Amino acid sequence: LKMSKVIKGGTVVTADLTYKADVKIEDGKIVEIGPDLSGDEILDAAGCYVMPGGIDPHTHLEMPFMGTHSSDDFYAGTRAALAGGTTMVVDFALPDPGESLLDAVKKWDNKSARACCDYSFHMAITWWGEQVFNEMKIITEEKGINTFKHFMAYKGSLMVNDDEMFASFKRCAELGATPLVHAENGDLVAEMTAKLLAEGNTGPEGHAYSRPPQVEGEATNRAIMIADMAGAPLYVVHTSCEESHEAIRRAKLAGKRVWGEPLIQHLVLDESEYFNEDWDHAARRVMSPPFRNKKHQDSLWAGLASGTLSCVATDHCAFTTEQKRYGVGDFSKIPNGTGGLEDRMPVLWTYGVETGRITMNEFVAVTSTNIAKILNCYPQKGAILVGADADIVVMDPSMGKTITAEAQASSIDYNVFEGIEVSALPRFVLSRGYVAVENGELKAKEGHGEFVARDPNATVNTALSKWKELTAPRPVVRAGIPATGV
Ligand code: URP
Ligand code: ZN
Ligand code: ZN
Ligand code: ZN
Repeated sequence: LKMSKVIKGGTVVTADLTYKADVKIEDGKIVEIGPDLSGDEILDAAGCYVMPGGIDPHTHLEMPFMGTHSSDDFYAGTRAALAGGTTMVVDFALPDPGESLLDAVKKWDNKSARACCDYSFHMAITWWGEQVFNEMKIITEEKGINTFKHFMAYKGSLMVNDDEMFASFKRCAELGATPLVHAENGDLVAEMTAKLLAEGNTGPEGHAYSRPPQVEGEATNRAIMIADMAGAPLYVVHTSCEESHEAIRRAKLAGKRVWGEPLIQHLVLDESEYFNEDWDHAARRVMSPPFRNKKHQDSLWAGLASGTLSCVATDHCAFTTEQKRYGVGDFSKIPNGTGGLEDRMPVLWTYGVETGRITMNEFVAVTSTNIAKILNCYPQKGAILVGADADIVVMDPSMGKTITAEAQASSIDYNVFEGIEVSALPRFVLSRGYVAVENGELKAKEGHGEFVARDPNATVNTALSKWKELTAPRPVVRAGIPATGV
């Protein structure tokens, strides 16, 4: 006989609806939704909101970066995810320059074997050549990866140039894949960095000075126009400022399929963190793009409310204080990245839903459903529907806590949200039916997580590709030849 579970007495909240219902689960899937359901095991959700588990579309677990590796691996990272109500993460497989994309997938397959929740991969395009062009087809058609990431920053390591990006975007359009960009102008950042260091501005605040909103706005605009010419949609990761948001808004109004992804860190933490007199405090918050001021934060919140920004992520890339200290005397050597996997859902609830900036349904949309649709894994993920995976968070608005590094699942020695009070926490978190948080207690199971394969999207834009238009045969105009001949 099948063991069934029923989440009982809660209020189901999805991206579209809020209603009272029980949710019944068998074999890791939702099998029934309705009143008065019975089952072998009852999870009491009275007073709680029963929502699709969070999906964090942007993590870097055990990533080789800036001379070290991010500290949280797939075990620590996905435990942290589950503790905070996130039931799926999408990590970036990162080929070394010249390395086969297929070898990078193998590496990420090995790392992710320990994952406690489901996961998927984006493939980073870190170099360009015929091999990459060919392997992109295998990646989309056989490896279940339909998203390709491009770093416009990190000159000299991960950065790709415009010609490479354009070639890759065209390939994405052909394959039904979606290109992603880290949008910061790497040339300008490199120039700003060199100047700041030469002037003796070596502390962590130099990192913020070196990456003003203009570098992000410029790169976002450029990527949008390049994607438009390539006939590809575009997903802009870690949108942190009005300049970038403005470019995304304008693109959407012009009918382009473009999405923006603010991070919970940028929504809640501001640039004053870099002017803290404690070097460690500031360095721990060094990430790209840097935290911004209130004007930019208000813009991001408005984008979530209006729908011009689509998904809230973390870019979880956690480094210990010891690793951050590689950059003492030179901010450009501070490993870039912050954590947030455990805190994204409760912090967004507290600063978004509790304050009235976003509704509960918008909360579900931006933490789960929107990205499931963009990544093409909806309604397996991101839904409370019969047949969907039972990835569910039961959010309890009567639970709260003060965030501390001491109590966190992440393996690093600090938390950028330290001291922040959250006003709701998961009472239960289910990962394909497995109860990974039970009455607030974390019971994540190593290796439980499975890879979520994502098929290519229909290549709707390709037929309309501006590139085809722009490169169509043109009439030859002879009127400009001088009468005297040449
Ligand atoms: O500073 C950051 N964001 N580190 C992680 C890598 C990236 O750029 O997303
Ligand atoms: Zn390594
Ligand atoms: Zn990035
Ligand atoms: Zn990232």
